[in-house]
Amino acid sequence: MVRNGNVRFAPVRTINKLPRFFFCASGFLALLVTTEIWFAPFDFNFSLLRATYAVQLETPSPLQSTDLAASHSFGFFDDIPNETWKLMRSKALAFQHYMYRNSPDIGSERPWFWYLNNLQPDFTCSHVFRVGGHGDGPKWVCDPHRLRKKEDDCLVYSFGSNGQYQFEDGLIDLIGHERCEIHVFDFGNFDRSQNAGRNIHYHKWGLGSSYDEAYNIKLKSSGRHLEILTFQETQQRLNHVNRTIDLFKIDCEWCEWSNYKDWVDVDARQILVEVHGLPSTNPATNPLNTKGSDFFNAFRENSYAMFSKELNPYNSECYEIGYIKLAKEFWKSSTEDESPTILSTRF
Ligand SMILES: *[C@@H]1O[C@H](CO)[C@@H](O)[C@H](O)[C@H]1NC(C)=O
Ligand SMILES: *[C@@H]1O[C@H](CO)[C@@H](O)[C@H](O)[C@H]1NC(C)=O
Repeated sequence: MVRNGNVRFAPVRTINKLPRFFFCASGFLALLVTTEIWFAPFDFNFSLLRATYAVQLETPSPLQSTDLAASHSFGFFDDIPNETWKLMRSKALAFQHYMYRNSPDIGSERPWFWYLNNLQPDFTCSHVFRVGGHGDGPKWVCDPHRLRKKEDDCLVYSFGSNGQYQFEDGLIDLIGHERCEIHVFDFGNFDRSQNAGRNIHYHKWGLGSSYDEAYNIKLKSSGRHLEILTFQETQQRLNHVNRTIDLFKIDCEWCEWSNYKDWVDVDARQILVEVHGLPSTNPATNPLNTKGSDFFNAFRENSYAMFSKELNPYNSECYEIGYIKLAKEFWKSSTEDESPTILSTRF
């Protein structure tokens, strides 16, 4: 409700009731007709195709310089005019992620409430796309069409698949198997015969931690003969050391709290992470004393902007969060072209 002192704003009525009813009803009928005629016979792939055409049509305006965005995004955003980018920057620079910025972990013993009060996207991708469609498993990706410009070095890591391939298949449908190489990691027998033709490579091992031995022991003692590699061991085994990872997707049921330091500082251009609750506030069950804010601050310290935060309604403590890496220069306050106060958030 909007109130300003004692003044209340009443809705402006320009259309009186009867014509308004017909206006709305005819709009609804038109929608019904177009939906029936054009969309009903087609499945999700058709709408995917339309989405890819829409983004293909976009070309940078030759009149405006787009160098700033390109230089701050390692060439990823090559069509955003300098002036637009400067506004996007001021929003990100001014944004406060925490309700209590000096004590960000206040309330973390109730994770659902903490996530309600803290963290929101500070960056917008104009062609953000839920790769894989509806349901639990697909992910929001920032402007995936831009990955099509990469020739043959596009690399995707996907930790924790539980045998579901909507995200990986959706990405290949969108970008093409000749462009992106996708590596999937999990413990189960989740390989499929069609993976080879789709440039999807399944690896039957889980992600351990290089610094949380208690976590590794817990994982190993879960009864099965599990192979566990740290992130660095994974890169070494695949001969990927120092390769840029274009999309890093991770949903590993709480492992993120025990191994994020192994991967938050690598050259991963987007990190799509499902967070599960928050680390325990009881020192007996959280001997490393990891705090929620340690985790989220690590993204900002490694130059990530948050472009998506989506609640997983199966569990009100779980969120899908999308991060995009930008150059360090993006985050530097500069006196001449920024005015971060215009969009500041106060609590
Ligand atoms: C756009 O930004 C780039 C990089 O900072 C700069 O070199 C260029 O002069 C800018 N162009 C305009 C028109 O502001
Ligand atoms: C990876 O990069 C580091 C730093 O540039 C370098 O020292 C190292 O030799 C590289 N490793 C490989 C396997 O390329």
